[in-house]
This record gives sequence, C-alpha cells and structure tokens, in this order.
Amino acid sequence: MPAPQAKDRPYTLENYVADLRRITAETDEEDEIIRRVGPLAQRLAVDKSWLQDKYYQTNGEQGFNAFLLHEEPDHSLAVLAVNWLPGRGAPPHDHGTWAVISGVDGVERNTRYARVDDRSRPDRAELEVKHEINADAGELICMKTGGIHSVHNDGSDVTLSLHTYGTHPNFTERSQFDLETGEKKDFKVQVE
Ligand SMILES: [Fe+2]
Repeated sequence: MPAPQAKDRPYTLENYVADLRRITAETDEEDEIIRRVGPLAQRLAVDKSWLQDKYYQTNGEQGFNAFLLHEEPDHSLAVLAVNWLPGRGAPPHDHGTWAVISGVDGVERNTRYARVDDRSRPDRAELEVKHEINADAGELICMKTGGIHSVHNDGSDVTLSLHTYGTHPNFTERSQFDLETGEKKDFKVQVE
C-alpha cells in the first residue's frame, strides 16, 4: 500500500494546538497569525476527529452554545466548538483578540460591521454594515482585534463552527453592540 500523502493524514486537535503554539511563538503580527492559522483551522474543521455529539447540545437561553476544546493556562489560544439554534444568533460583538472561525456543519450568516462613531462615549457606538456572507462548512471568517460581526442561523437545523481566539474572549475586554439603541456593553458568554 502506498504511504499516505500528508493531506490524507489525520489532523487532530493536538496537532492544531501544537501548530498554534509554534505560529504564535514565531510571530505576534495578527495578519500573519490569521494567514497561517486559517488553513489549519479549515483542515481541523474537515478532519472532525475532535467532534463529539455533545457539541450539538443547544442552549435555548443564549441561542448558541459554546464548548471549550482547548486553552492555555493563561487563557490564550482558545479553541471552541459553537453551535447555533435555528432562527437564533449573536448580536454584533467584538472579541478583544484575533479570531479565526471555520464552518463545520450548516450555513451561518456572518455580518461584518465598521464602527463609524468618534468613540468619545464609552457606552455608545454607531455601526455600519460592511458586508454579509453565508458561511458554509469549511469556510473561514477571520477578524483582527477590534473586528465586529454578528452571526445568525437562518436555517432549520442546528449549525456548528470551530472558533479559535488569541485569548479566550471571556478574558478579554470586549463588547456587544445594540444596533437599535447604540448601546455598547460587556459581552460574556456561557461556555460549557
Ligand atoms: Fe464572534
């Protein structure tokens, strides 16, 4: 039997974490981190060796449910599986760190925003829609620190995506934004 090609070898969560450690040891430049982590996140999303049935357990209160697959002791390099109930989503928010998100199962509508106010008021923000994409399995959504997006599941089945952050977002300064009122406030999420 011929030796398996590199692309055919399994790519495990352990492989991914080792690569995240190596990349972030080699550079702290976010564009470079995202450029290098993105294809690996897609590979892990496709490999699915990490996937467990429980990652589909939903959270009706929050509309989405998040499961921590990995984080370093200092909360850096957080990898989470996040599922979304049909018809539910997350409001516009930032992450306080870089983010690389790869679709795993189903289509998630991702809307990106630009902040257009003068940032003179700590509890207010004005956002404008930049663009919107329907991200399917294997597709990437990447944001540098300060990038703002919202997520919505327009379909009739639970969706799942794989999220990697420079730092676990419950341990960063990050915000959610209310498009109607202009309110900006803390954003912490329930994580299993
Ligand atoms: Fe997000």
